[in-house]
Order: sequence, then C-alpha cells, then structure tokens
Amino acid sequence: MFFIKKNAWVWIAIFLSVCSQSTLAFHKDVYEPRVPKAIIEHEQQVKSPYPVTPERIEAGRKIYVGAGLCVTCHSRDGTGVSLPGHSARDFTDAKWQKLRTDGELMWVLKNGSPGTGMPIRVGTDINEEDGWNVIQYIRTFEGK
Ligand code: HEC
Repeated sequence: MFFIKKNAWVWIAIFLSVCSQSTLAFHKDVYEPRVPKAIIEHEQQVKSPYPVTPERIEAGRKIYVGAGLCVTCHSRDGTGVSLPGHSARDFTDAKWQKLRTDGELMWVLKNGSPGTGMPIRVGTDINEEDGWNVIQYIRTFEGK
C-alpha cells in the first residue's frame, strides 16, 4: 500500500498513457523520431546555450535522481523500467544516442512523448537550464 501511495503519480501517468494510446501516436520503433514531422527539421537544430562541463553533468545527475523524478522510470543505470505500451527509453543504447539530437531531447522534455508515459518535465518540475543539464547527464549513459 505504501508503495502504491508513494508512486501514485507514476500509476496515474501509466493509466493516462494506456488510455491515450488509441488516439495518439503509438511508436513501436524506439528509433523513430518523437518530434512531429512538421517541425522536426527545426527542432533538430536547436542547441544548448551551455557548454558541456563536469559541473553541469553533476547538476544534471542531481535533477535526474531528484526534482526531475527521471530515475523513477529511467532507473539509476539509465536502462529504464519496463512499462506497459512504451517502456522508458534505454539511455545506454548507443544507436539511439547517435540518432537523437539534443534539440529533439529538449522537445521531449518540454512536450512529453505524446501517447506514452513520458511526462512534460521542463516548465513543470524543472526549468530549461535544468533540462539542458539533465540532457548532458543522459549523454553519459551511452554504451555503459
Ligand atoms: C512516468 C515515467 C517517466 C518519467 C518520470 C520520466 N520519463 Fe522519460 N520516458 C518515459 C517513457 C515511457 C519513455 C518512452 C517514450 C516513447 O517511447 O516515446 C521516455 C522517454 C524519454 C526520452 C526519449 C525520447 C526519445 O526521443 O526517444 C527522454 C530523453 C526522456 N524520457 C527523458 C526523461 C527525463 C530527463 C526525465 C526527468 C526529467 C524523464 N524522462 C522522466 C517515462 C518517464
């Protein structure tokens, strides 16, 4: 019971994701872009205004395990927990890491991944700078 209460919002997100899958995109292929086709060329070009530094990676790690709540679904080692429909992305997948630009990841942080359990994070629980820092941290999982 305690477990369910503590993670109630996760279950709500899963429930909403399962319900919305009939009306929104269902992506079987994890490599298929999550950004809508009409805007993807623009979003792929969006770059972080911040340089990659050890301090920012560490700030990103704190967001990942803290305020961003990422760790709940993406797990400490970045491989992601298994969820019904769409499992959380495996950040250690080098092919996926190479396919996605930082701009695409920021779009997902600002919009969620519609039709899945991936919630909007930037503008809700974390700000844009936190978002760029957490993206730097996600990049460190590649090939681990
Ligand atoms: C409630 C669970 C949940 C939480 C919390 C969550 N995610 Fe996700 N995330 C998912 C799921 C499920 C997917 C897979 C979505 C899909 O297949 O499109 C995903 C996918 C992603 C992707 C990959 C999108 C792509 O283009 O392939 C990124 C990046 C991401 N999450 C980052 C984060 C970050 C950073 C946080 C914390 C700030 C976070 N997520 C919090 C469930 C979650």
